[in-house]
This record gives sequence, structure tokens and C-alpha cells, in this order.
Amino acid sequence: MADPTQTPAHRAGGEPAEPADVVFARRMRKDFQRIQMEHEFAVDEMLTKVSILRREFLHLHRYNPIEHVGSRVKTSASILQKVARLGIDPTPEAIRAGIHDIAGVRITCSFIADTYRVLDALTSQTDVGVLRVKDYIAHPKPNGYKSLHALVEIPVFLSTGPVPVTVEVQVRTIAMDFWASLEHKIYYKYDGSVPAGIVTSLTEAAELADQLDQRMEELHTEVRGVGRERAEDTTPDLDERMLLRVWDSARADARAEGDGDGDNARGPAD
Ligand code: GTP
Ligand code: MG
Repeated sequence: MADPTQTPAHRAGGEPAEPADVVFARRMRKDFQRIQMEHEFAVDEMLTKVSILRREFLHLHRYNPIEHVGSRVKTSASILQKVARLGIDPTPEAIRAGIHDIAGVRITCSFIADTYRVLDALTSQTDVGVLRVKDYIAHPKPNGYKSLHALVEIPVFLSTGPVPVTVEVQVRTIAMDFWASLEHKIYYKYDGSVPAGIVTSLTEAAELADQLDQRMEELHTEVRGVGRERAEDTTPDLDERMLLRVWDSARADARAEGDGDGDNARGPAD
């Protein structure tokens, strides 16, 4: 049988490839695919968690604190670049231990208070292990960057059993997100060496974004008070009188059935 680690040229006696390299590359490709898959599953789980929070919050408070949710899993090339840059071994164990932003979820909230509320709701879930939280809202980076960063670990249930996977969660307001995406583009445009004047303007813009966040939150709190009073008078989604009629009729049916076949005579332990 042909040696699967040798290229056709090698088998034909042509320029010999490096079988060890081929084997190494093949193994790396398999490892990387597995790592990416695990992180994709972890992202799916986080997105489900965020979606549940969003819908429940909307149901309870008639208000949606989450404006937008984005996610990404690093490509193999990007993981490999980071492996080389950090000088870590290209093994699955070393990659899992040394690179924490393979899976990323970014949640954009309407207001600052919501960023804390949403992160708290996520990190307090029993299957979410918190590895690290960095509060760049209370303590912005020198350039003005603001966001909440959390490294969390969640179990992904594979056929072989649960695997803990790390996800980087970033939570920020719309204004912070607007600023960060522009800053990111500028940083890349100048390849990291942004002219001093633009750096100063960006830092000033971060300050303006913060003022906007605070003003919007004040307005929201003011208007919400009014909304709450109004909400008392609004007709509920479900017609309560109709629900009562259905309930009465269901109880009447149950009583009639109980008289008839004795089914209701069974105790609760049945
Ligand atoms: P470190 O301990 O400094 O590594 O903190 P960290 O891991 O919380 O932040 P890091 O600087 O590694 O950044 C993680 C991610 O946050 C980045 O990939 C960006 O998405 C975002 N980020 C951090 N700092 C900035 C910034 O100054 N500008 C922008 N636009 N994004 C940033
Ligand atoms: Mg980092």
C-alpha cells in the first residue's frame, strides 16, 4: 500500500518532499479544523444565551437592552499568525491555553447601564466560568477606548464529552462601538503610526461619545418613567377575560370527566 504521507512525486521517485513536514501539516490542518469547530459551537451557545436574555428582557420589561450582536471565529491563518507572534507551540493544547480570542462575541447595547446588566446576566449563569473581566468603561484605555471585556469558558458537549471552550465577550454601547470601529480603521490605515493630531482628535471624540452616552441615558430614564405609568393602562396582549372563560370551561370539563370515569380519583402520586 502506498505511504499516505508521501506525495505522488515522491512515490514516482521525483523530487522528494519532506514526509515529516507533510505529516506535520496534515496533522495541524486537522487540529486547526477541530479547534475552529469547537469555538464555532461555543459561539453558537453564547449567541443562544444572548438571544434568550434579549427576549426575556423584552418580555419582562417591554424594552430591549441589546441593539446588536456580532460574532466571529478566527481563521486558521489568523490563529497561526498569533501562534508565531506569541511564540507558542502549534499544538492544540498550547493554542487553547495561550490564545483566548479565537471565539469572539460582541454585544452592542443601547445604554451604559445595560452593558453591565447584560454582562452580569451572562457571567452569572452557572455553566459560564469567568476567567477574566476588564472594565474599560470605568477605566478607559489611554486612547479613549471603552468596552467591557470578559473571557469566559463554556462547556461544549461533543460526542466524546464536554470540552471547555474560551470565548472573548465584548460589551459596549452604540457610541463606544461607533468610536472603536472608526479608531480601528484609522489605526489600520496608518499601519499603527497614527499622526499625533488624529490621535488627539480621536481622544476628544471618545469624550464626546461618552457625553452622548450619558445624555441619552438620562433622557431614557426620564422617558421610561412616563412609559411605565402609561403601560398600566394598556390592554394586555392576551385577553384576560377570554383566558378566564377557557379556564372555567376546562375546570368544568375536568369535573365532568371526574364524575364519569373516575380518572380524577387517582392521587397525585400516580
Ligand atoms: P490586554 O490585557 O491589554 O491584552 O487586554 P485585553 O485582552 O482586554 O484587550 P486587547 O488589547 O487584547 O484587545 C482585545 C480586543 O479589544 C481587540 O481585539 C479589539 O477588538 C478590542 N480593543 C482593545 N483595545 C482597542 C482599541 O484601542 N481600539 C479598538 N478599536 N479596539 C480595541
Ligand atoms: Mg489581549
